[in-house]
Amino acid sequence: MTSMMPDVQEVLIPSSEIQEKVREIGVRVTEDYRGEKPLLVGILRGAFVMLGDLMRNVDLPCEVDFMDISSYGTGTSSSGVVRILKDLEEDITGRHVLVVEDIVDSGLTLSYLRRSLLARNPASLEICALLSKPERRRVDLEVKYLGFEVPDEFVVGYGLDYAGAYRNLPDVCVLKPEVFGAG
Ligand code: IMP
Ligand code: MG
Repeated sequence: MTSMMPDVQEVLIPSSEIQEKVREIGVRVTEDYRGEKPLLVGILRGAFVMLGDLMRNVDLPCEVDFMDISSYGTGTSSSGVVRILKDLEEDITGRHVLVVEDIVDSGLTLSYLRRSLLARNPASLEICALLSKPERRRVDLEVKYLGFEVPDEFVVGYGLDYAGAYRNLPDVCVLKPEVFGAG
């Protein structure tokens, strides 16, 4: 990943720490869902990297599905009204659903999504997120499985993008300010 490193200002969370944390979450999920066959729901596109690692650390039969959502809003602030661009393939009625997201910022997107999925009557619905920015939270949202809290800075890597790029960085990083200007 050295070719992208000139754009990186700081490595916030190195790959080794992410891998260790995802392993821990996998162990907790394995214990919590013992005897069940959970459905892991990845929110496209940012969550696909974590979902792939998490799933391989869940020692249970489990299934995977994806949703793509877009939040109505201007620029970087989300309004909390979510449009479903790609819905689940699976019927979640009676299923144990674990939503996997890259980052919880205001929390508006996930809290809206949570309500709309609950209306489909799953047996349970929990949230797993790699990152959270607690300073930015605007609604109460229970994230049962959380990787790391990060400060209020725009981060990329391990699935998270800036303008579609940097998802393949193995570490969670902060970009240099000039990268955004050049966008
Ligand atoms: P929320 O509704 O404000 O919680 O929006 C969360 C969504 O905003 C995440 O799914 C990300 O797509 C995006 N997001 C928020 N902060 C960042 C960041 O620092 N880097 C990349 N994407 C972010
Ligand atoms: Mg997202």
